[in-house]
Amino acid sequence: PRIAVFASGSGSNFEAIAEAVRTGELDAEIPILLTDKPLAAVITRAERLGIPAAAVNPKAFPDKAAYEQTILARLRDEEIDWIILAGYMRLIGPTLLEAYPNRIVNIHPSLLPAFPGKDAVGQALNAGAETTGVTVHFVDEGMDTGPVILQREVPVVPGNRELTEAAIHEVEHVLYKEALQKLLAEEQTRV
Ligand code: GRF
Repeated sequence: PRIAVFASGSGSNFEAIAEAVRTGELDAEIPILLTDKPLAAVITRAERLGIPAAAVNPKAFPDKAAYEQTILARLRDEEIDWIILAGYMRLIGPTLLEAYPNRIVNIHPSLLPAFPGKDAVGQALNAGAETTGVTVHFVDEGMDTGPVILQREVPVVPGNRELTEAAIHEVEHVLYKEALQKLLAEEQTRV
C-alpha cells in the first residue's frame, strides 16, 4: 500500500513511520509527505529521508473544499491508499473523508475520549491526571472522535510538561507503527 503522511510541525512521528518502512517492519511505501505549513520543520526531515515533500498552503484557496481538492488531485496522481495524520493541525473536511472512507488515521497524545483537541498534554497536567496516553484512531468529521485502533497508557510526570511529552513521544513512535502494521495486515486478509 501507498501511504501519504500529513504533518504540520516537527514530524518525529513521520520519521518513525518512514524508518519502519525503511527497515521493512512496515510493508508500505511513502511516496509523499504533505504539509499545510510551507516552513514546517518536517520538510527538512523529508528531504533528509529522501521522501518528496509537498507544501499546500490553505491560505492560497477560497475555502477548505478547494484546498482539499488540490490535495486530492495530488493523492490520486500518487495512487495513495492511506492518509496518515502525524501532527496535522487541521480538521479533515468532507472532500477527503468521502474520497478515503475509513482510510484516514490520526495519532493523538491522550487516551481518547479524554483530552481531545489542542494541547492534550497540558490538559492532562492541568486536570491533575496521574495517567494519560496515546491513541491511534480512524478519522471522522469530528475532532479526535473516530473509532480507536490502538491505545497505550503513559504516566504523567506531575508538573513536568517536558518529561511527560518526551514519554508520550516515545510511546507514539512505537504505537503508530504497531497500529499501521495491524491495519495493513487486516487489509491483506480481507478478500
Ligand atoms: C504528536 O504528539 C501527535 O500525537 C499530535 O501531534 C504531535 C506531533 O508530533 N497529533 P511530531 O510532529 O510527530 O513530532
